[in-house]
Amino acid sequence: MVLAENKAVITLFGAAGDLAQRKLYPSLFKLYQKHYLGEHFALLGTSRRQISDEDFQEMVRQSISSIKETADGQAESFVKHFFFQSHDVTKPEHYVVLGKRIAKLEEQFDTEHNRLFYMSMAPQFFGTIAINLKKQNLLSDNGFNRLVIEKPFGRDFDSAKKLNDELTQTFDENQIFRIDHYLGKEMIQNIEALRFGNTIIESLWNNRYIDNIQVTLSEKLGVEERAGYYDQSGALRDMVQNHVMQIVAQLAMEQPVAFTDSDVRVEKIKALRSLRLYTPSEAAANFVRGQYDAGDNSTAYRKEDGVDPHSATETFVAAKLLFDNYRWSGVPFYIRTGKKMADKFTRIDVVFRKPLIDIFANPRMKSDQSLKSNVLTIYVEPKSGFALRVNAKSAGQGFTTTPVDLSFLQSSAAKEEAPEPYERLFHDALEGNHTNFASWAEIAYAWKFVDVIRKLWDIEDPQFPNYVPGSMGPAASDELLARDGRQWVYRLNR
Ligand code: BG6
Repeated sequence: MVLAENKAVITLFGAAGDLAQRKLYPSLFKLYQKHYLGEHFALLGTSRRQISDEDFQEMVRQSISSIKETADGQAESFVKHFFFQSHDVTKPEHYVVLGKRIAKLEEQFDTEHNRLFYMSMAPQFFGTIAINLKKQNLLSDNGFNRLVIEKPFGRDFDSAKKLNDELTQTFDENQIFRIDHYLGKEMIQNIEALRFGNTIIESLWNNRYIDNIQVTLSEKLGVEERAGYYDQSGALRDMVQNHVMQIVAQLAMEQPVAFTDSDVRVEKIKALRSLRLYTPSEAAANFVRGQYDAGDNSTAYRKEDGVDPHSATETFVAAKLLFDNYRWSGVPFYIRTGKKMADKFTRIDVVFRKPLIDIFANPRMKSDQSLKSNVLTIYVEPKSGFALRVNAKSAGQGFTTTPVDLSFLQSSAAKEEAPEPYERLFHDALEGNHTNFASWAEIAYAWKFVDVIRKLWDIEDPQFPNYVPGSMGPAASDELLARDGRQWVYRLNR
């Protein structure tokens, strides 16, 4: 296969930051190893610090040091594409200097005047940077201009709209790539393959056959060193508004006309439009929040460094979502996510309706077994794969049924080979492919949905802490489903 080399000067705001060193440089190196990047790219890193090009190259060298070279001298030739410019994003004159350096790098590396700007820094500066890029003439006239922007995209609908208005003074919607790293995960991308590539799945993918869908994003760690950010954010903003809503949109959307970014976007937007916007009292009934307490050898959230000792920030959210459309009317989508839970995993459980009549439960068969629901589980992480639970005859004399799994799990070798989310997403942005990025309309609907519950939670005092580390959240999360006569497919055996 002939791979197309991407040519561009990447200007990175936040080049000395943690994300850049942990994720972005290693991802670019992988792209370089696979020849998606070659001789015609350069990265101009910026931050307020004064760092020489040599020291910056050393920083990049360190950040890729654990990746095995696939050719001699590869890491060395890669780091020679990295340069640094000290930059204060609030000073217009600094952009002039930046512009000159970009132009010089463009010539040196013959990048066809393609410019990609990447914002990976404090979100309060996103708008200022975008506006200055245009005002100080940093956009290219001949090649592409693209903006990749990290989360958070606002704190609520109003602030997100303000940010979007600022960005769109400089960039069109089709030049903006809003990162949601969950969209770069193999098994999240697989939702579309599974649904639209399989008659036996897609033909059952509706309220006639599906009873409910459950999405769990569970984390074992607490807030660690990010307490400062997290205490102002909470699980609703940190995970639900973005990752969970994006996953749910892919599960709920109609089949796109074709598998192109614009067609997928249209369907995701339509799905989110039909998500029922709760009234405050419906939101209160359909959302559960939690905050972790102290456990054996672990600190309560309120006692973590950098957390307000009276913090009302939620570290856990569970909710029931409803779509008002023909396909999903009456099918609840239950979601939950939290810190300090039993384990680190992401999974989706699609619970099918039971057969209308259970002929095996006939007393004449002398069986007290009842059929279990079929469940399609999509394992996103740490294992990657699917399992379909079906009822089968238990081997042996007599006739009872037992659930068995038809499963496919990716081998560890295949998982090793699979690109990291940031590698895929960087590549997509360089290619100009929007499929795995969130559009403004999606973000706007997601904020409108979560704003209702946020406003309510901001005025009502929670009963925190209310769950122990190592559990699957507060009891109210189980009650949310029990109320509907259902239960979480994944639960701990107590
Ligand atoms: C981030 C959140 O977006 O996602 C973090 O800010 C969270 O709080 C992380 O830990 C989880 O991502 P992953 O890929 O480890 O599941």
